[in-house]
Amino acid sequence: MTHVPVLLQETLEALAVKAGGVYVDGTLGRAGHAREMLRRGAARVIGIDRDDAALAEVSAALDGMSEATSGELILRKGCHGDLAEIVRAEGMEEVDGILLDLGVSSPQLDDASRGFSFRADGPLDMRMDRSRGLTAADIVNSRTAAELTEIFRTLGEEPHSRRIALAIEKARALRRFETTLQLAGLVERIVGRSGARHPATRVFQALRMAVNDELGELSRALVGGLGLLKPGGRFAVITFESLTDRMVKRFFADHAGRMVSLQQGGARWEGVLPRVRPVWRRAVTATVEERGANARSRSARLRAVERV
Ligand SMILES: C[S@@+](CC[C@H](N)C(=O)[O-])C[C@H]1O[C@@H](n2cnc3c(N)ncnc32)[C@H](O)[C@@H]1O
Repeated sequence: MTHVPVLLQETLEALAVKAGGVYVDGTLGRAGHAREMLRRGAARVIGIDRDDAALAEVSAALDGMSEATSGELILRKGCHGDLAEIVRAEGMEEVDGILLDLGVSSPQLDDASRGFSFRADGPLDMRMDRSRGLTAADIVNSRTAAELTEIFRTLGEEPHSRRIALAIEKARALRRFETTLQLAGLVERIVGRSGARHPATRVFQALRMAVNDELGELSRALVGGLGLLKPGGRFAVITFESLTDRMVKRFFADHAGRMVSLQQGGARWEGVLPRVRPVWRRAVTATVEERGANARSRSARLRAVERV
């Protein structure tokens, strides 16, 4: 179970990793990106993840990493929504760069017992932090059809949300939903199969986002992270769904602002503080080579800004 970091070179360029710099990786995973930051000379990387399995694996691999770098990787269990508090608790007020590589990791997806996959049978869990919170089964078995419709529509952008929610309500009256394939099978029966995408893709995405409050986490991480950046510091975010990409794009655009011409002459900047400038005008996507080698990279979009 390996995790190949996506858009690795592009991310390092986005962060402009420099020798002696201090960085935050708010989605440490298997530390694919964090290791490279250290190899490029970063003095310190604070690696945050809410998944105990990810932290345990990186911790076990730390010895091998120290040979290649002189920098320090500080591991912290927590949510990136709290990244500002986590960094300040380390006695730091400012950092040179922040990375969020959102969503689920390959090891999480490949381990059927985590419940993220609609291809392998496992408990309908989907919690990145298995020590707390509601599981996907809790949500599927307890929410009203109207609430499930709303979750599938807003977080999954699923066009058949209501039909699926009503079918769930009917089916769970006979038997609780406990497993991934039970839910994936029901969605497939309701929606049918067309195209290469599994028909349950959007429903699973919506449940994963609801279980882990991914939009709330992202929103708090963006606000908290921007407040931590030094002038010239960089914020890079990799997303895998249009919903989260739009959120990042809007947040960065609001802080990049725009110049408005004044009647009396000259121009004035209008936007939300602190001010940033985009590193690239558009989102960066994977090259043809990377798409061929790593299927996960196909939907990846990287956006980055610099604090001015
Ligand atoms: C796509 S993986 C990151 C992979 C990593 N960049 C690498 O190269 O190995 C996303 C990771 O972020 C973690 N994660 C997702 N949401 C989180 C949150 N709100 N707070 C902390 N960690 C989170 C997941 O548990 C997962 O390990």
